Amino acid sequence: MKTMSSSQKTSFWHNAIIYQVYPWTFFEDPDRRPLGNGSIRGITQKLNYIQSLGANALWVSPFFASPMIDGGYDVTDYTQVHPLLGTIEDVDELIAKLHERGMKLMIDFIPNHTSDRHPWFVQSRASKRTVKKDWYIWHNGRRGVDGSLQPPNNWARVFSLPQLERRKAGLLDLPEGAYTPPLSAWEFDGQRNQFYLASFSDAQPDLNWSNVGVRKAMKDQLRFWLDRGVDGFRIDAANHIGKNMELPDEEPDTSYQEGVDNPYDQLRRHNSCDYPETLHHYLDELTDVLKEPAYRERDARFIYEAYMEENDLDYLNRLCPEKATTFNFGALDRISWSGLPRKLQLDSYYSRLPKKSIANHVNGNHDKDRLASRIGDDAARAAAVFTLCLSGMRFIYNGEELNLRNGYVSTARRQDPNGLRDPERTPIPWHDTRKNAGFSTAPAHELYLPINKNDIIRAVNVQLRQSTSPLRLYQAIGELMKENTILQCGKFASRTTNDHDVVAYAREYQGFEVLVLTNFSDTTKEAMVDNTTLQQGNIVLSSLPVHESIRRIDLSKPVRLEPYEAIVITA
Ligand code: GLC
Repeated sequence: MKTMSSSQKTSFWHNAIIYQVYPWTFFEDPDRRPLGNGSIRGITQKLNYIQSLGANALWVSPFFASPMIDGGYDVTDYTQVHPLLGTIEDVDELIAKLHERGMKLMIDFIPNHTSDRHPWFVQSRASKRTVKKDWYIWHNGRRGVDGSLQPPNNWARVFSLPQLERRKAGLLDLPEGAYTPPLSAWEFDGQRNQFYLASFSDAQPDLNWSNVGVRKAMKDQLRFWLDRGVDGFRIDAANHIGKNMELPDEEPDTSYQEGVDNPYDQLRRHNSCDYPETLHHYLDELTDVLKEPAYRERDARFIYEAYMEENDLDYLNRLCPEKATTFNFGALDRISWSGLPRKLQLDSYYSRLPKKSIANHVNGNHDKDRLASRIGDDAARAAAVFTLCLSGMRFIYNGEELNLRNGYVSTARRQDPNGLRDPERTPIPWHDTRKNAGFSTAPAHELYLPINKNDIIRAVNVQLRQSTSPLRLYQAIGELMKENTILQCGKFASRTTNDHDVVAYAREYQGFEVLVLTNFSDTTKEAMVDNTTLQQGNIVLSSLPVHESIRRIDLSKPVRLEPYEAIVITA
């Protein structure tokens, strides 16, 4: 068997379980600020818990100064911590405490836009003569056939989903059968008498990456956090920084389904974002920061959030594989919980990945319905085993370990401008009998988002008492990782079975393998694995609480799997 390449030996990220914390709803520091939201110190207090899941890294979603129009992705000062979440010293302390434990911190970097209250934008909108005049994308607009002032082109806003609701409520005057129009990505600004581009919400103007000053300022922001000890960045909406500055119209996307898709998807995206000529250049420039003498020995890494076609993702993955990879959203976004498609996606993902790259896997995040709501409780347990036993960077979105489901958030309590993502961001229930499920001591109506009452029964303290709970399953996976070198270092190898619903893969290391089998169906299966090197093995872990102890099995005979069961087999 081949030995590992040097990059595999040296990079921490080859064997990283990264726990994503949504700081506003994770845990409030009860000693300091009973204000109804989580805090940085709240995260620091829960490091034992996070580590008990086998996680060795954190990704903390934005905690920067922000008017909170888009959950903190609208930043007014990237070098300041939002006062409701804590202080920069709190972040320093979090970094120090993580590093003491050998853990790493990844934070969000938001290159495409700032808040409209960011001093840069305030200056830019104030006058056409300021030095920041071209830091955002301004345009006079064009005249329509009737002489009215129109946006410069047809580019649409990502946050166009509320248009569907407006239509349902009778607020849009549209003929029957007509498509619901997306919102324009251009916003007219009365102060500068021009349009500015805002691809997400009007409160998030897009930065002009063709401006050298912008690029320099953004790279300085990365250096600011690298100098404080941050180990990696999740690059938010990375594909949006690459635009065609000639501003041509986008073409219609004929696969759009009215009433189902976001009206934003009526247009293909080749110019408003995903524009290779500029995108690749700017991402190269960003990764160059990680290669500067001050940082190059640091093993710091980027992971790009980019919802793009697979071929376009391949290009991004080839730019600087030793430092940056795109998120692998294939399973999350494109396919349902189903054996054959999942197997094909997984095999093709690993085969396309450049040599020096590091794989990654996600089951959810703060933008998607919660895993258990999407696929059900048992399948969610299987997904945990299936995903966490893979190689590379594996992400757990906070609450996944409890099989939390989407909460109910009334229109009056909404935080999300896109209208839909609050349910997956409701607070973590820590304790079933404490106020606000132990999340916060503030009055319930002052919480950032309401507690999901239906899931108080899934609180951490309850699940710790139950030997068969999802939380105990995540902990068992974490324990197994700690003691099994093959699961830490082994490379991914595809295996086949005689049944499309049962997906098999192995982790191979120095001639040995660990085998993972997952039944994606709701019926019991007897599956034969065709090409494993194991003749006999021990089932050391099952996603279901059906088997009490380790079972020895003969792999020359069919292996029995319960509905939605995932098992791990060692030699
Ligand atoms: C990313 C974030 C999302 C945010 C958007 C705009 O997609 O994950 O939460 O709304 O970027 O910054």
